[in-house]
Parts: sequence; structure tokens; C-alpha cells
Amino acid sequence: MTARFRVASLLVGAALAACGGGGGGDVITQPNIPTTPVSPDTIPLRTLAERRGLHLGAAADQRPGYSGMDMTRFRGVLSREFSALTPENDMKHERLQPSRGVFRYENADSLVTFAVANNMRVRGHTLVWHRQIAGWLTSGSWTAAETRTLLQDHVTNVVTHFRGKLLAWDVVNEALNDDGSMRPGFWYDRLGREYIELAFRHARAADPDVLLFYNDYNIEGIGPKSDSAYVMIRDLQTRGVPINGIGLQGHFQVGGVPSSLAANITRFAALGLKVHITELDIRMPTPATAAQLQQQADNYRSVVETCLSFPACDLVTVWGVSDHESWVPSTFAGWGAALLLDAQYAKKPAFTALYNLLK
Ligand code: XIL
Repeated sequence: MTARFRVASLLVGAALAACGGGGGGDVITQPNIPTTPVSPDTIPLRTLAERRGLHLGAAADQRPGYSGMDMTRFRGVLSREFSALTPENDMKHERLQPSRGVFRYENADSLVTFAVANNMRVRGHTLVWHRQIAGWLTSGSWTAAETRTLLQDHVTNVVTHFRGKLLAWDVVNEALNDDGSMRPGFWYDRLGREYIELAFRHARAADPDVLLFYNDYNIEGIGPKSDSAYVMIRDLQTRGVPINGIGLQGHFQVGGVPSSLAANITRFAALGLKVHITELDIRMPTPATAAQLQQQADNYRSVVETCLSFPACDLVTVWGVSDHESWVPSTFAGWGAALLLDAQYAKKPAFTALYNLLK
């Protein structure tokens, strides 16, 4: 047990106690040994990472929306290779509160139960964001006072529900534009930048121990957007707003890992923050070439190696288990092959690069 895992191990003890006998028939629990391991002859990637004091996570939903899912293989590889889990969509506003005051926790609870059964940490994602919020909320007309209440109700109900079970929450997601200005959206348009502070304060009031993160993309290297995140977080700290970490999403193009990643982590760590790489994927034009797969492997290695070099950086999560379960092809036309396993679950050079780095 390394020092950087201490908080997490305390939390999982609480989670194991809280989850008890599991739940209904839909709960996905299974032993650590899957029926179709990626490679039975090798040590799981998560084991190698844990020995280095690093959690290696993957995004997953209870019922992933990707066609042709082989759920046994998916869950087997997820629990064999990864020690952390982020719900890809199952903890977003539209899923958890589809009607006003009606909270639906079944799928998210099943994921948490699965994680606990497989000794995986869970990152909650995400409480306050401008996307994937329920239609009843965005289509209503609310005063600022009503919006403040709606924000408090959502954050308080959700964080209380999962109290003691999660490693971290992405409390506020993607609040900034690429030029560093505040991004417009449902919460900002009605409350101004106050919504950020409110979200963190309500989250802390509902769970005294979970780590509270600000999460964004294009803040991995030094630039106007990460400068703005830095100033924003320093300001929150100065005013006593509870914030424990910064999530660098890490949705990169091959060859696009910023050279200032280490310098950027250095300055956020100097604020006393934890740093998580929260949504790593490295996409390339498809069909992939051998040269690009090799460059991708080098890029994955450099991101994980950089994180390993900081005590503050103790978690790297990839945004999907295999190229079959990746948001990239449907979001960035002509791009794909962004993850560690290919769409048939075969190890890519990137998987091997991480294996060799960590072992
Ligand atoms: C993405 C999911 O992967 C998709 O399934 C969904 O349709 C849209 O959202 N930044 C985030 C994540 O914080 O929540 C997003 O996830 C990817 C970008």
C-alpha cells in the first residue's frame, strides 16, 4: 500500500461495508478472473500500475450504448485490467434526474457494486456540466434563485446517495472556453461564475471525504485555457472553497500530447491539488497505420510516465475499454483507434507500451 493510495483504501473499506449483499438481478458482479482474459499469461495491467502507486481506470456504463456488446468479455477485461472505473454516462444529470425530483440510481448503483466487487475505485462524473442535462431543466424558465435551488438539490441528492463509496467527483466539468473565458451554458447563463463555487460547497457539505475535482479538456498543457483554470482554482482556494484536484481529460490526437504536460502538472500540484488524467484517448485517422499505432504507443507511454513522476498524479483513466467502446468514431468523423485494445480486444502497441513501462 503506497502513501498515495491511503485515502482510496479507506474509502473502499466503507464501500464494501455499504454495498453488503449487492442488489437485484441486474447487478453486474463477477469474480476477478474473467472467462476470456486479454492474455492469461500476463500480469493484469492494473496490478503493475498498483505496484507503482497508480490507479489505471476505464470509462464504462452499465449498459454501454455501443452495438454488438459482448458483456461478459467487456466486464471481464474491464475488471481484469483496470483498477478504477468512471461511468461514461450513467452519473450524468440526464440519467440521474430524468424528471424533476425523480432520481434514478439503478444503473449507477450497479456499476458501483461491480467496482466494489472487483476492488476498483470509482470516479463520479459529473455533477455540473453544460451538456447531458435533463430536458425538463433546460426547457424550463427559471429565475436565478430557482436555478440555485435546482443546482443544490441535484448536487446534494447525488453526492449524498454515493457518500463514502466514491474516490472522487468531477464536480464541475468544462466550465471554460479554449481562450480561457467562461463558457456559456445552462448554469453560467443564469448564475454567472458563482455556480462553480456553489457546486463545490454543496458537494463537500454532502460528503466530507470524497475528493472534489474540476475537470476539463485542452488544459493538459500550458496555454490560455489552463492558465484560466489555474487562476480560477487559486481564487477558489483563496476564498476557502473546497477543491482537491484537477482532472486533465486528455482527449488527444496522435502526436498531440503537449510538451508542457509536466510543467503544467507541476504548477497544479504546487497548489496542493491532486492531478488525475481522467479521459485519456489518443485518436488517429482511420484506418490506422502501423506507424501511427506506434506513435500512439509512444504517446500513451509518455503521458503515463509523466503522471508517474508526480506523487500528486495517482490515476490515469482511459475513455473506454476497447476501440469498440469508444466515443471517438461517432464524434470525430474519420477518426478512431484511440484506445489500448482494438475493436476485437487484441492488445495494441499502446497496451504493450504501458505494460513494459509499468512492469
Ligand atoms: C461522452 C461519452 O463518451 C459519450 O458516450 C456521450 O455521448 C457524450 O459524452 N468530455 C466528458 C465526457 O467529460 O463526459 C464525454 O463523454 C467526453 C468529453
